Amino acid sequence: MNRYWTLAGGPLGGLPEPGDFRLRESVMPAPGPGQALSRTIYISLDPYQWGYRKGGLEKPGEVCHARTVSQVVESRMDGFAAGDLVFNVNGWSEYALMGEGVPRPAYMIPRKLDPKLGRISQAVGVLGMLGLTAYSGMTLLGAPKAGETVVVSAASGGVGQIACQLARIAGARVVGIAGSAEKCRFVTEALRIDKCVSHQSPTLAAEIARACPDGVDVYFENVGGAVFDAVTPRLNPAARVTICGVIAQYHDGAEQEGKAGLVRRLAPLVRERDVVVHDLFVGDFVADHQDRFLSDMGAWVAAGEVTYREDIRQGFECVPTAFGEMMRGGNFGKTLVQVSDDPTL
Ligand SMILES: NC(=O)c1ccc[n+]([C@@H]2O[C@H](COP(=O)([O-])OP(=O)(O)OC[C@H]3O[C@@H](n4cnc5c(N)ncnc54)[C@H](OP(=O)(O)O)[C@@H]3O)[C@@H](O)[C@H]2O)c1
Repeated sequence: MNRYWTLAGGPLGGLPEPGDFRLRESVMPAPGPGQALSRTIYISLDPYQWGYRKGGLEKPGEVCHARTVSQVVESRMDGFAAGDLVFNVNGWSEYALMGEGVPRPAYMIPRKLDPKLGRISQAVGVLGMLGLTAYSGMTLLGAPKAGETVVVSAASGGVGQIACQLARIAGARVVGIAGSAEKCRFVTEALRIDKCVSHQSPTLAAEIARACPDGVDVYFENVGGAVFDAVTPRLNPAARVTICGVIAQYHDGAEQEGKAGLVRRLAPLVRERDVVVHDLFVGDFVADHQDRFLSDMGAWVAAGEVTYREDIRQGFECVPTAFGEMMRGGNFGKTLVQVSDDPTL
């Protein structure tokens, strides 16, 4: 038998609760022509999955979507053999099919992993979509120059920690924003970022002003809400803003305003101060930038220029709980759940 998580079918509130999900069993699927069966090793938990669920893109009974790292068990799919380690989208499921007729987002193409390039778990993190998100939003769109001031919110998280380090590599002065004192220490010490401010501070706006005496030239936004309100008054003329995500707006009920709402609110600064705003969607960068990104990021990771903290929970049963904790800031680094043996460890 195969086990998987699905939505339970009740109304969804602001943030995920364990009762929103139900564990189910089904007969183990068998690969048809052009398909392969794989065993899930790591499940990636990402804020956008909650957007899918709240937006009605995922129906009760369907396997909850997630990007995964897996090992092929049986293959009738060209280019994949039993034993291969792969990036794919098995979702919150212990086993799943990939290939012919198996739906997946167009830009989440299954690919074989080379364990020599880095830990296989990193294929859903720094050497995968989150790395490409930071690379496209910071290196390509924000394009910080030496000496400029860059602000990154959710700076210790899966995307944020990479975005901070890419700005540092470009020679910018970088200010992170994170929750706890421990996370802020990680940002300044492990990531070698100039300053980190806690968004839990009642004087956040004043602290950002103090941390950015020359204003802000590049703002990489993962959060929205009060953090956005505190940073945007500091934007310099011709600043670049990458709107990556708005995780805080799941908490305060303004998620419907979304990224587009932040873009709208920046319109006066675009008109009056030449601020450039990018509404980032990583899927737009896969076709043209994936190869260059993997080669650049692989080199930075190998050289220790980019370090990457993962928060790996253990056991298939904990997936919904780990998801809810990540959405509330209870993660420390990129959130994954390991659900079976990693043969490379
Ligand atoms: N545009 C794209 O194509 C794209 C692609 C991938 C991801 N994203 C976005 O990137 C962002 C980061 O995703 P991730 O996977 O790397 O998640 P993550 O940063 O690892 O986890 C979420 C973090 O958000 C912070 N947070 C939660 N609620 C907050 C609040 N009310 N105020 C301030 N911070 C809060 C928490 O950190 P603290 O403890 O520090 O508060 C938490 O650890 C998300 O907004 C996601 O939607 C966008």
